[in-house]
Amino acid sequence: MSLGWKKAATGLVTAGLLVGSLAACSQERDSGSDGGDASAAPEETLVGISMPTKSLERWNRDGAHLDELLQGASYETTLQYADNKVDQQITQLENMINQGADVLVIAPIDGTTLGPVLEQAASQDITVIAYDRLINDSENVDYYATFDNYEVGKMQGEYIVEQLDLENAAGPFNLEPFAGSPDDNNAKFFFSGAWDVLKPFVDEGKLVVPSGKAPASNDDWQSIGIQGWGSDSAQAEMENRLNSFYGGGQQVDVILSPNDSLALGIAQALAGNGYAPGPDYPVLTGQDADLANVQNMLAGKQSMTVWKDTRTLGDQVAKMVGQIIEGDEVQVNDEETYDNGVKVVPTYLLPPVVVTPDTVESSLVDSEFYTADDLGL
Ligand code: BGC
Repeated sequence: MSLGWKKAATGLVTAGLLVGSLAACSQERDSGSDGGDASAAPEETLVGISMPTKSLERWNRDGAHLDELLQGASYETTLQYADNKVDQQITQLENMINQGADVLVIAPIDGTTLGPVLEQAASQDITVIAYDRLINDSENVDYYATFDNYEVGKMQGEYIVEQLDLENAAGPFNLEPFAGSPDDNNAKFFFSGAWDVLKPFVDEGKLVVPSGKAPASNDDWQSIGIQGWGSDSAQAEMENRLNSFYGGGQQVDVILSPNDSLALGIAQALAGNGYAPGPDYPVLTGQDADLANVQNMLAGKQSMTVWKDTRTLGDQVAKMVGQIIEGDEVQVNDEETYDNGVKVVPTYLLPPVVVTPDTVESSLVDSEFYTADDLGL
């Protein structure tokens, strides 16, 4: 492969030398030592897309949408799902490198495990975009595109404050907090966003956590993390908390769930414990607007979700791939937040949106994320 110019272009952009970078890039290309393949037709360009698992609805949507966009732009693509297994994801990436990928788009399972395979990618001048989840501890990550993960958690926390009227109500309310998979860099941001809003009310005593599973600080979030974001594990954990700490008529009032897969399991545990939709049903948060959860929201079994329109993430990443291949300036809007332990990765952040039962139709149906039929509307 002869795409050395791409790394050079990347370096120029990330160094902040935006002015004149286009000219610099094309110079690089024209004078590339081996002639470069600046004129490579799109169909000579291979983009490897590595997704974590098919078991969660969102990744299926993400993969299919990005693949379709890139193929629509006439790029060759290879789309692989790794069944949430780190070794499988590494093998799939090695295959993509051996097939001559020009760009890798990776949503890592464990953001800390890809260092060696990315060394291989770097040695072939492959540009790497971390998709939705950051890749840590490696200098060989060129870009990151995601939703504002801290904002997701903040929205969940603020929704809880509003629903319980925590500023005015005396409380105390019983809260059970959950966090995402300990190996997912995003989970830390989700928790911090929510806990920065909620912890003052815990400290004040308006929110109490009967299970005791209230992290002492944001850094302690992994203590309540659900490995692999599993619905079953979340259900088991919630059942355990209800059975062990909610005797004698005590009710849970609010559950901070970082995403929909956990919320699905938590709702099951609530149902199993006799909680029925209605005014006394606990506030239950989520994220992703997965179909089953939106249906649960309409049925009164989940209060809100934070919708990340994954089509916009795919659109943005497809755009970035095009910019990389063309040697154009790659668009980012955050060059401060996402430090992966080795470098701050230039990032494009997209805005998440709160969806409640009242806004399902205007947000999710009007935008054609779902049809009214999908939701039984
Ligand atoms: C994503 C969430 C998703 C979770 C589980 C996170 O990294 O940002 O949207 O719910 O992984 O797949």
